[in-house]
Amino acid sequence: MSSVDKAAILRKFREEALLGGGEKRIERQHAKGKLTARERIELLLDESSFEEYDMLKAHRCNDFGLDKQHYPGDGVVTGYGTIDGRLVYVFSQDFTVFGGSLSETYAEKIIKVMDMAAMNGAPIIGLNDSGGARIQEGIESLAGYGDIFLKNVLFSGVIPQISAILGPCAGGAVYSPAITDFTIMVENTSYMFVTGPDVVKAVTGEDVSKEELGGARIHGGKSGVSHLVCKTEQEALQLIRKLISYIPQNNMEDPISMSPTDPVDRVESWLDSFVPDNPNKPYDMRKVISAILDHGEFLEVQRMYAQNIIIGFGRMNGKSVGLIANQPSYLAGVLDNNASVKAARFIRFCDAFNIPLVTLVDVPGFMPGTKQEYGGIIRNGAKLLYAYAEATVPKIAVITRKAYGGAYDVMSSKHLRSDVNFAWPTAEIAVMGPDGAVNIIFRKELAEAEDPVAKKAELVQNYRENFANPYNAASRGYIDDVILPSNTRFRVIKSLEMLQTKRQDVPAKKHGNIPL
Ligand code: HXC
Repeated sequence: MSSVDKAAILRKFREEALLGGGEKRIERQHAKGKLTARERIELLLDESSFEEYDMLKAHRCNDFGLDKQHYPGDGVVTGYGTIDGRLVYVFSQDFTVFGGSLSETYAEKIIKVMDMAAMNGAPIIGLNDSGGARIQEGIESLAGYGDIFLKNVLFSGVIPQISAILGPCAGGAVYSPAITDFTIMVENTSYMFVTGPDVVKAVTGEDVSKEELGGARIHGGKSGVSHLVCKTEQEALQLIRKLISYIPQNNMEDPISMSPTDPVDRVESWLDSFVPDNPNKPYDMRKVISAILDHGEFLEVQRMYAQNIIIGFGRMNGKSVGLIANQPSYLAGVLDNNASVKAARFIRFCDAFNIPLVTLVDVPGFMPGTKQEYGGIIRNGAKLLYAYAEATVPKIAVITRKAYGGAYDVMSSKHLRSDVNFAWPTAEIAVMGPDGAVNIIFRKELAEAEDPVAKKAELVQNYRENFANPYNAASRGYIDDVILPSNTRFRVIKSLEMLQTKRQDVPAKKHGNIPL
């Protein structure tokens, strides 16, 4: 055989691999409004940067007629490329080959790129679109999932792991994305559930559609499983590129700096009168966030979930920060079960990947009631406290208004070794709100008063003036400075610069025991 013929054989294999499950199935994929595995990689990575591994790898199953069905690459496209010139590893499940189902060799392909990503210290991005375990392979497929889970866990906190769900993701297969740092879903085409609608119906009698059980809106708004929800796949892939720009390649590196183009000392005069005089009147904390971040750009994470707390990424003087903020315009910014867990996980991600934390505080306390207590607010609130206390990245907090009770301690207080804590003149830092405090301290006086309503108003006013302010905390050094709101951006950036060389440890241990 001549070298020309040999090259032709290679070409034929490659052409076959590029076609995945064949043209008909590609048409079916497009008809469902979905891109193919390769089209997705092209949109995700820098142009022509993709280098493929294992394009010719084949499954080894001979049962159920699979010995006669071979597709080079076996249903998953794996390799590496760049995003804005930075190395990333990727696997993209090909639904046109056996419904993207996972075989033994398919799992080996994924593990190969995960290992390479960890060895070379670069993010791993999984584009998921799969019918789950390859049923013909049985137990080998389950073993493949287990092997992937193990790598997900071992590399957690070492390299960033990102999952896009771009089709079905069901059964135990959901647990790999769940362990990764960020899960992105697309409305109407992606689904995640441990058991599908048919099993739900058989076991519980409940009638529920795929979308209602595990669509993007459900996981983005109700369960909190999905961190980012997009309308189209194209948008999702672009969003992954953006997300990657805020985070470092691995836990040994810092996030990249962008050349700063927004003045550090940009003064936002309107902030000085932004917080309403009435402490019960809400305002939108997102406005404060935009005012202090470079160009007001904020990549919000879990936007529709536990909206009483806001988390996400921004830049300050070109450098990445993780932002956590109570949202007074939603449930008054109270801390509840979902908000606590949402913020705690984000803080731990930022701490693992050297991203400084900036916290904006306006919190009336923890949500009272049986729903919260039965839901474990003690355990969940403790997660948030634990995450802040454990984090050794630079931590800066700004109290804009309320910081009451236990929530004051939890929200990045100095007592949990926050580095720089500011308060606005509008801050109310106290053991509890004036109303509650007066009820307890002056119970007897109120019971004996001729006009209890007038007496209470007077006592509340006194308490507010004397205790619901930033100056008691400042006089004890619990607040490093009371600052003008208009200068917040400048003061936070100066603090971040000062903290660039921060080194802090936790006592040597195998690992802590966060109250899960
Ligand atoms: C092998 C599969 C497959 C699977 C789909 N296909 N799922 N082949 N193993 N798990 C094949 C189909 O036979 C079909 O082949 C092609 O993929 C496309 O499937 P369709 O059914 O035509 O597509 P669609 O109508 O879009 O439905 C998609 C689907 C459905 C909802 C995913 O295929 C489905 O329910 N599949 C089974 C899901 C499942 O039960 N998986 C195992 C779960 S257990 P042709 O040749 O016609 O193109 C599990 C355990 C994991 O995953 C545990 C981890 C710890």
